[in-house]
Amino acid sequence: MSVLHQLKTSFEEQVQRAQNLNDIESLRVSILGKKGTLTEEMKSLGSLSPEERKSRGGELNTLKDHILSLLEEKERHFEDKELNEKLASETIDISLPPRPEMEGKIHPISQAIDECIAIFGEMGFTLREGPDIESDFHNFSALNIPAEHPARAEQDTFYLPGQGQDPLVLRTHTSPVQIRTMLKEKPPLRIICPGRVYRSDYDATHSPMFHQIEGLVIDKSTHMGHLKGCLEEFLRRFFGDPDLQVRFRPGYFPFTEPSAEVDVLWKSGNGDSKWLEILGCGMVHPNVLKNCEIDPQEYQGFAFGMGIERIAMLKYGIDDLRLFFDSDLRWLQNYGFGNYERSLIS
Ligand code: DAH
Repeated sequence: MSVLHQLKTSFEEQVQRAQNLNDIESLRVSILGKKGTLTEEMKSLGSLSPEERKSRGGELNTLKDHILSLLEEKERHFEDKELNEKLASETIDISLPPRPEMEGKIHPISQAIDECIAIFGEMGFTLREGPDIESDFHNFSALNIPAEHPARAEQDTFYLPGQGQDPLVLRTHTSPVQIRTMLKEKPPLRIICPGRVYRSDYDATHSPMFHQIEGLVIDKSTHMGHLKGCLEEFLRRFFGDPDLQVRFRPGYFPFTEPSAEVDVLWKSGNGDSKWLEILGCGMVHPNVLKNCEIDPQEYQGFAFGMGIERIAMLKYGIDDLRLFFDSDLRWLQNYGFGNYERSLIS
């Protein structure tokens, strides 16, 4: 029997005798590893004449392929065996009752903000955000509320140490996002800015932190008619009543001229109805445009701002503002919204 034939028979026997995956791995090393039997045979090819090297090299390679496939086949066999044993021994106990699953709810404030974004989004408005900690400039001065203006007292807030002449405040309204956007972007603009605002107030109808949504439209021929049409359309869609009556009353805000307050005629369950104030709005004051380097001779626009808690309380029938912030899970289970309702707009 030739040496090669003996090697082949010996390898085949060894593979045959292997008991498990570890044996296969040791065989792979002892035959084909750096110092393996077959590797050593290959190394000895160097001392042969070219013709002998060619024919013996070919034979050794054939033997190597043969052994490799034997090893692989045996390896697969052990892997299958291991898996089958595992499957047979690991049974799943399906008699255990499932753990109770906590289902999250969307907070009515988030729901109301999402609905506003969806409605204004369809009207061509895009979203902008600003920081909760604002400079005095963005929150007041640029909005035509100078240092000694009485409107500042109405929006008393929390002050933080700032730099020099421009103290920092927790923003009292979302209107500073108008300023930030006008300073950064060129008109035409059509934006809405939802977010948290802060005032030092606390009772059944006031919370030191609440939410507002601000709107701003700046273009070359925007007028009061656009403002009216836009807000009527929004309110009718938000409250899901195409016949909702909306009333514009003259109002005052330093950053708009003329300004208006908007009421809706609210029908209570017993048939009574009364006018409820919903938001403030107006044509952007020329001083505000100038403060943002926009020429009021070329551009005009309108702005509006409303409290999210107020419209959410009306729409969802919630009667105490403080409940929004109590973090009572039972309340949220009752008033919260499921995921699928997120995209729901009437
Ligand atoms: N910033 C006002 C507030 O907090 C609301 C408001 C009124 C915003 C009129 C506006 C506006 O943009 O034009 O009371």
